[in-house]
Amino acid sequence: MGPAGLDGVTTRVEDERPASVRDRAERGMRDERQPRPNPLREGLRLERMAEPCTMVICGATGDLAERKLAPALYNCLLGGFLPPEFTVVGFARRDLGDEAFRDHLLEGINRFSRNRPAKPAIWESFARGIEYHRGDFDAPEAYVELAKRLDRIDRDRGTAGNRLFYLAVPPALYPEIVNQLEQAGLATPGDRRRSGSKRGWTRVIVEKPFGSDLESARTLNRELAEVFDERQVYRIDHYLGKETVQNLAVFRFGNGLFEPIWNRRYIDSVQITVAETVGVEGRGEFYDATGALRDIVQGHALQLMAMFAMDPPVEFHSEDLRDEKLKVLRGVKPMSPSDVATNTVRGQYVSGWVEGEKVSSYRDSPEIAPDSQTETFVALKLGIDSWRWAGVPFYLRSGKALPSRVTEIAVQFKQAPLALFARAGVPQIEPNVLAIRVQPDEGILLRFGAKVPGQGLQIRTVNMDFRYGSSFAVDSPDAYETLLLDAMVGDASLFTRDDEVERAWEILDPILNAWQAGEGGPLHFYGAGTWGPPAADELLERDRRAWRRP
Ligand code: BG6
Repeated sequence: MGPAGLDGVTTRVEDERPASVRDRAERGMRDERQPRPNPLREGLRLERMAEPCTMVICGATGDLAERKLAPALYNCLLGGFLPPEFTVVGFARRDLGDEAFRDHLLEGINRFSRNRPAKPAIWESFARGIEYHRGDFDAPEAYVELAKRLDRIDRDRGTAGNRLFYLAVPPALYPEIVNQLEQAGLATPGDRRRSGSKRGWTRVIVEKPFGSDLESARTLNRELAEVFDERQVYRIDHYLGKETVQNLAVFRFGNGLFEPIWNRRYIDSVQITVAETVGVEGRGEFYDATGALRDIVQGHALQLMAMFAMDPPVEFHSEDLRDEKLKVLRGVKPMSPSDVATNTVRGQYVSGWVEGEKVSSYRDSPEIAPDSQTETFVALKLGIDSWRWAGVPFYLRSGKALPSRVTEIAVQFKQAPLALFARAGVPQIEPNVLAIRVQPDEGILLRFGAKVPGQGLQIRTVNMDFRYGSSFAVDSPDAYETLLLDAMVGDASLFTRDDEVERAWEILDPILNAWQAGEGGPLHFYGAGTWGPPAADELLERDRRAWRRP
């Protein structure tokens, strides 16, 4: 595929909004009357207002609560999706009082929320439902007290025994916390709707990473399963909450146009890119033990691939959807060591320039071993053995310290069967490309050949470009807003199931093992601010293809 958009003429998708709405959007104002642009929610995921409930954030004084959870909850409240009874209990070791904890969350909202600063009236009503519970995660009495506190909140605030536990702690603490919850009688299995119990529902949201290999993921799933029913467990992969990822399903299954060509007969290859400009930024210890394959490919990239490639579910129901995603992952056959050497490339960045800033080598970053072998870049060629996809290569790449931040899925279609214009001296036309931009600048781009106006025949590739920003007059919710609300209404569609997680590790374990054993090809180096090592380009050149430069 050639470089995108350089010589292309941009053809905008027609804007069908009323002129008043368009004007408001163009002036940068939000139209409060516009419904939120989330078609999955309308009709398919019906019940969007959360029931009264208490959310207990374990690890509430950490980064995640400040950067993601507080802003997400605030925006849900602002959007009218949380009932007045909604209550937050921050559970952590630090010696804080309610007021100091509220200040911590308020600071998170004022710094990181898409709507900021917090509106005083909204914040005040939110703050009335925020409490802090100090306790050690391994101390049974902390949970006994927590149980009493939650009962009191049920009585005082009408939260009806509905509880959402959010594990925003290092994964090593998960088993301890879930066992303690069970001991204190806080893990009551089953949903009220399903079990008929009057106790309300109890759900647990588990943050990634879900293990570091197949064995640890199985252990974690087993430990969770000893305490919770799988229907109570919500494994969060925030990429699934991104608006464009949800739109993939609407795009494919809500339109008659695309699904008939979504297969090996018409699609030549697919590229999935998750590129970041940032380096390891204060997460050196975690990242050096993790690497790009575990950090991004295991969850985010494979989930994008599964959403892209799955068959239509029988119904838009979480189990049907996840069954279809699992089928895709089961079609990806684990690699032998020699396949790993041929079909994977791993890289690590050395010093360079990213967006005009000097970046030092990965190995010179704090908390990184000077001889670290951890990959900050990975490129893979995968295949899906299914009737739909047999023979279609899926190229995945992800890296840190790359030239731009972009996540996209690019579909390259097969060439027309006859080069009809070759006789008129027109050189080979670029293949058609459909690029689904997940972020930033969310939208969908279609590239096709068009005749250049004038006498004679010249063909040039042009772009038809749908952009969320210009077609809708509202901003998209952050992924955490969507996912927290989903967990509160009991919709697990956008959360990964135990078997999906394990299958992803079954695909990745052989790669990690081969790399570890020195059989999977060398670690390549690339300059920060480049698109990864030349070996990643060679991976596609061998197949007479090239990475898109998004
Ligand atoms: C996280 C990874 O899951 O996703 C990070 O651990 C990465 O390393 C982040 O930076 C990227 O998320 P987003 O939403 O900024 O693309």
